[in-house]
Amino acid sequence: MQQVVILGTGGTIAGTGVDPGRSWQYQAAQLTVAQLVQAVPALSASHLDVVQVAQIDSKDMSWAVWRSLGDALQQYLTRDDVAGVVITHGTDTLEETAYLLSHFVDARKPVVLTAAMRPATAHDADGPGNLRDAVRVVHEAARRRLGGVVAVLHGRIWAAEHVRKAHTAQLDAFDGGGHAPLALVDEGGQWTAAAPAWPTSAARAWSLLAKKPPRVEVVHSHADADGWLLDAALAYAGDHGPLDGLVLAGTGHGTLHQGLEAAVNRARAVGVTVWRSSRVARGGVMSRDSDSLRAAGDLTVAQARVALMLYLLESK
Ligand code: SIN
Repeated sequence: MQQVVILGTGGTIAGTGVDPGRSWQYQAAQLTVAQLVQAVPALSASHLDVVQVAQIDSKDMSWAVWRSLGDALQQYLTRDDVAGVVITHGTDTLEETAYLLSHFVDARKPVVLTAAMRPATAHDADGPGNLRDAVRVVHEAARRRLGGVVAVLHGRIWAAEHVRKAHTAQLDAFDGGGHAPLALVDEGGQWTAAAPAWPTSAARAWSLLAKKPPRVEVVHSHADADGWLLDAALAYAGDHGPLDGLVLAGTGHGTLHQGLEAAVNRARAVGVTVWRSSRVARGGVMSRDSDSLRAAGDLTVAQARVALMLYLLESK
């Protein structure tokens, strides 16, 4: 049997609390990925290699951790004895990491992110089941010759570019922003309603992650959005290094308050690349003939920020 490599980064899946009945009171990133694996008897027959890449609450995700994940993936995915990789992650920024990695991982081997909404010490801890499913999905995907990045959460397989956290507390916290899961995974590890293929982005050179990331910020449009924050950012950038890119979390179909729009024009005039997305959960922002700003499509605001960073890195 080929090996599955499990890369640990922390998150609630590795979290612990004092009271198993009060699952909202805990600290993320306390258990090692080796401990997480040991807690899942169903994995004892699997041939696993575990590597602790980081140990963070994913609210603190950084380019440096993404670079470390990239280094580890390059190392393990090229090994003939490795079927694929599981990454244990926090739920809060999982959609960013999954989307980023999908630009680098080619279609040859599966990379599966998983997470949990309850800490490992909770009565209703969901991490062990999610981890078991993620390893099974790697084996089954390898058997079906499916490769690329997906997330396995609560019995569903999500494409990296669609997955997003859609609830702050429920066990079933993720959705696809209007896109269906690629497959459902039942308790026995069988897939139902499986899509025939997994989407993969063009495989970019991993060396892109070694570069200094551009500064890309997010600004929301809302009632009374008069561009104050953006003008302040532009003034600050004068002394502290350039603002390279800006993602607008617009209203509705990515529209902007006229006050913010005027500030956006000032930003563009000094060389800031601006993309528009929406603060609305589903539907995305499509391009229109009259567009002066690039539309971020189906991506969440946070994923659009990742996309703009990659765009700027490639165009430098
Ligand atoms: C985190 O994202 O690391 C904490 C929250 C979670 O995993 O649910």
